[in-house]
Amino acid sequence: MALLKTTKFLSSVGCFTPSLGALPIRASSWWSEVQMGPPDPILGVTEAYKRDTNPQKMNLGVGAYRDDNGKPYVLSCVRKAEAMIASKMLDKEYLPIGGLGDFTKACAELALGPDSEVLKSKRSITVQTISGTGSLRIGGNYLSRFHLVGRDVYLPKPSWGNHTPIFRDAGMQLKAYRYYDPATCGFDFAGALDDISKIPENGVIMLHACAHNPTGVDPRPEQWKELSAVIKKRKLLVFFDMAYQGFASGDIDRDAWAVRHFIEQGHNILLSQSFAKNMGLYGERVGGFTVVCADAEEAKRVESQLKILIRPIYSNPPMNGARIASTILNTPDLHSTWLTEVKDMADRIIKMREMLVANLKNEGSTRNWQHVIDQIGMFCFTGLKPEQVERLTKEFSVYMTKDGRISVAGVTSGNVGYLAHAIHQVTK
Ligand SMILES: Cc1ncc(COP(=O)(O)O)c(C=O)c1O
Repeated sequence: MALLKTTKFLSSVGCFTPSLGALPIRASSWWSEVQMGPPDPILGVTEAYKRDTNPQKMNLGVGAYRDDNGKPYVLSCVRKAEAMIASKMLDKEYLPIGGLGDFTKACAELALGPDSEVLKSKRSITVQTISGTGSLRIGGNYLSRFHLVGRDVYLPKPSWGNHTPIFRDAGMQLKAYRYYDPATCGFDFAGALDDISKIPENGVIMLHACAHNPTGVDPRPEQWKELSAVIKKRKLLVFFDMAYQGFASGDIDRDAWAVRHFIEQGHNILLSQSFAKNMGLYGERVGGFTVVCADAEEAKRVESQLKILIRPIYSNPPMNGARIASTILNTPDLHSTWLTEVKDMADRIIKMREMLVANLKNEGSTRNWQHVIDQIGMFCFTGLKPEQVERLTKEFSVYMTKDGRISVAGVTSGNVGYLAHAIHQVTK
């Protein structure tokens, strides 16, 4: 340490000492050799949007719900839950390492269903996490430490951009399986089956439970059934990422169908959940990580290790968002208000998809835009080429990621006409 400090001092005053020869001479700061990293592709879109002075500008990059006036939306069940919590004057003591018990129980029940055999036999463990990202990372760390028979995580191609660094930083290796077919703007079912059937045993396969991000393309139930069978045959460990339960179809049970089907078929899955989108609790960072085990005794052992993993990372999770989510999930009238509000959000998005296609037709577009309606959830893979995206941004101030993904949540009845006009101009 002393030597390092001396070196820093010498270099900062411009001296060079041959006797320190083997040591690199340190420049004036500890961090002078840190390279500038690239900006986050999605946040970069928002930055450019903010600088634009066109009053008709649209930001379709960011994955957060907006109401029909284009404004951030706080659900009324959230406001009511906050008021109930405030009136109780609760303390601010630390939560347990695994989080708020009332929350984790309700979180698992929401995903697995109230009649789940797994929950009845207590053969799963759910810990509260820092939203979906934190859940995936705890999952990645858990795999890295305990899934020693297979280091490869297979992601759909493409997948949510953060999946790769999450699992890479956790020490896993990334592979991919075919998922999206650019020719149809739909699911490449044959390609996915073909690739998955060649994954070596014990590999980890990541599946988006619903509302696949970025494509908005989900398998149909019959396709999920076949995927489940092939994955079982290949003896793969399934990791479901469910960041949009309820947000895809408007129905929480329908959106959890694939997760529940895989469990019924005997897959002991890992599951990541987020309450960012379906409760609009983005900044509260509420999520869950679940491991389905062979039996209750195994679940206890896994739980003990999850706590050992979590403790040195953030010690225990934050309580505010978990209290809100738990109050909503465990208070019958708030729960039913929530179901209505999730459906309203999903329905608005579905309506915007239809309106966009109708407006494109009115503009005179003869292209087939059916995929815009068929895709589901917050995002739509429009099929626009990078040069068309560039023109949309430059000429019409419509901002989106270069891959042509738009967040349909950013479309409103007020701007859908303008968007259709702009898209038609760059695609005709
Ligand atoms: C597929 C997917 N997984 C996980 C997340 C995690 O989000 P958060 O950490 O905000 O819950 C997102 C958010 O965009 C996502 O799209």
